[in-house]
Amino acid sequence: MKNTFYVTTPIYYVNDVPHIGHAYTTIAADSAARYHRLRGEKVFFLTGTDEHGQKIEKTAKAQGIEPKELANKVVENFKKLWKVLNISNDDFIRTTEERHYNTVTFLFKKIMENGDIYKGEYEDWYCIPDETFLTESQLIDGKCPECGRPVDKLKEESYFFRMSKYTEPLLNYIMENPDFIYPPSRRNEIINFVKQGLRDLSISRTSIRWGIPVPGDDKHVIYVWFDALTNYITAAGYPHDMEKFNTFWPAEHFIGKDILKFHAVYWPCFLLSAGLPLPKRVVAHGWWTVEGQKMSKSLGNAIDPFALAEKYGVDPFRYFLLREVPFGSDGDFSHDAMIKRINSDLANDLGNLVKRSITMVEKFLDKKYELPLNIGIHPSLASHCEETIKEYDNAMLDSSFSRALEQVWNFINILNKFIVGTEPWALHKNKRIEDLKLVMSNLMEGIRVTAILIYPFMPETANKIYSAIGIKEDIETHVKSNLESRSFGKISGKYEVEIIPDLFPRIEEKEKISPPISPKKQEEKFISIDDFAKVEIKIGLVLSAVRVANSDKLLKLTVDDGERQRTIVAGIAKYYSPEEIVGKKITFVANLKPARLMGIQSEGMILAASSENELSIIIPEKDIRTGSKVK
Ligand code: MSP
Repeated sequence: MKNTFYVTTPIYYVNDVPHIGHAYTTIAADSAARYHRLRGEKVFFLTGTDEHGQKIEKTAKAQGIEPKELANKVVENFKKLWKVLNISNDDFIRTTEERHYNTVTFLFKKIMENGDIYKGEYEDWYCIPDETFLTESQLIDGKCPECGRPVDKLKEESYFFRMSKYTEPLLNYIMENPDFIYPPSRRNEIINFVKQGLRDLSISRTSIRWGIPVPGDDKHVIYVWFDALTNYITAAGYPHDMEKFNTFWPAEHFIGKDILKFHAVYWPCFLLSAGLPLPKRVVAHGWWTVEGQKMSKSLGNAIDPFALAEKYGVDPFRYFLLREVPFGSDGDFSHDAMIKRINSDLANDLGNLVKRSITMVEKFLDKKYELPLNIGIHPSLASHCEETIKEYDNAMLDSSFSRALEQVWNFINILNKFIVGTEPWALHKNKRIEDLKLVMSNLMEGIRVTAILIYPFMPETANKIYSAIGIKEDIETHVKSNLESRSFGKISGKYEVEIIPDLFPRIEEKEKISPPISPKKQEEKFISIDDFAKVEIKIGLVLSAVRVANSDKLLKLTVDDGERQRTIVAGIAKYYSPEEIVGKKITFVANLKPARLMGIQSEGMILAASSENELSIIIPEKDIRTGSKVK
């Protein structure tokens, strides 16, 4: 058995700012990586960015910059976030790096040499946002079944991967390895999908330039998913550092449920063809909604992980995500739920346990205590602790993070009850010093093991606890130097506690509930239907468009409003070129007081949705008559 652990996150697209979904996968992978390090395993933890493909090409174009420039800008947001969230990745891969280019080219050639790539012609539907090809029968109401957005028809010469050949081998592999896909419900989905028979897969494009060229035919670039999935072996050293590769590969891939097919079907087929071992496991987590709503750019409700970490603290944020819902199920983020977790689990249960225990050692024993190996082990506490560790290990190895944390919290409650049951204050009062020492040393040992168990999830807090109970080393160094110390009562020594500020200050109710709105304010908060009716919104047809001189933001549009032509100056030049907008039916406010912008009289305002570095004009879903009213 190899004593190594290789864990990966998806590589994130660089056309988006990081949100809670990205943070979730990465925090989960980080917790797994930290856990395996504490078990003394050699860990390789990889994350990175997916920088090629049509989606990136399009976003860059809309911003008037080169794709690489966009990637260079956005990658920094991800790197910064991982730092803030205390992510301990060992490598960060960008698909535009040379090492990756080399591996993708090598793998493509190898699969070709094995006879699994041939040239043909492709015609099918394509969903650009998902970078995914779809058959007619997969479409729902003519739209992408995954994201519901419109699809484009593509016909082009293409290289194909003989995926059909791997239907049987893949199915056999999945059946023989029940743990390969997690959770089991997703595994069944994949089994049903593969059973229908796999189609050969188009793995090159001539319609895109932004990607890695097909070796020997640079009219084609390699399909972005072939390119992206290969990152997992590039970073592991394939084929340039086979020693590293053989040490770490195969990996556990942590992903969201939406990209399971790519990881549990396409990727294993590529690997089978190349004669490489398949991933150890593909772990698909669920999706987060926000305050009960689907998170989306158009709703502008994407949760900013920087802001949450700042508001609630990094460790509470990490804890919440992995505790609130079982890994694999969907979850809802709400501020209320977050505050409840902080006040109850963190401040009340854990924070109080540490604080009152340390304070008692300070007061009753002049800060000093010894670990129980010297003093005597409390048998029931020790056996509860061992039971907890056993259940916790099972859950962690199964990626059931919330179950693991539940086990820890059961133990925290046992420790809190232990204090109530043994009444150290009474032992102190009655001068039963030896009994007091026995109780306190066992309590401190329970807290020490608790710190180790929460370390993967809340590394900073865990280390604070370690130092408060007087252990000078950080947890990783300490545990790695003596793996036995993960268990109860296995270390000895004399220690001195140190009083620390509250680990988790409670969040007060008044901060939690926004003040009740007075009836008058209530009215001010809303507008009446009459107010809304004052705004005349109409559909217009853009007849012509030109850039406004000396402005990089403005386009001057001539719009047919159904009755006459009018000029509208719109701040969309960074996102739409004049050619793109001409001929489009747009939505605009028709009765806005005319205003002069850069010397041009503008008679109305175009409606558009924007978020961070994106903007989308609002267009009618059907081809409706120009001049129609919007209400
Ligand atoms: N670039 C591809 C992955 C290639 S891996 C070889 C990609 N990138 S992504 O940036 O769009 O998404 C990355 C991850 O974020 C996915 O695992 C996806 O499931 C996850 N999430 C995106 N929105 C999410 C939620 N609302 N909730 C939870 N995770 C979600 O796909």
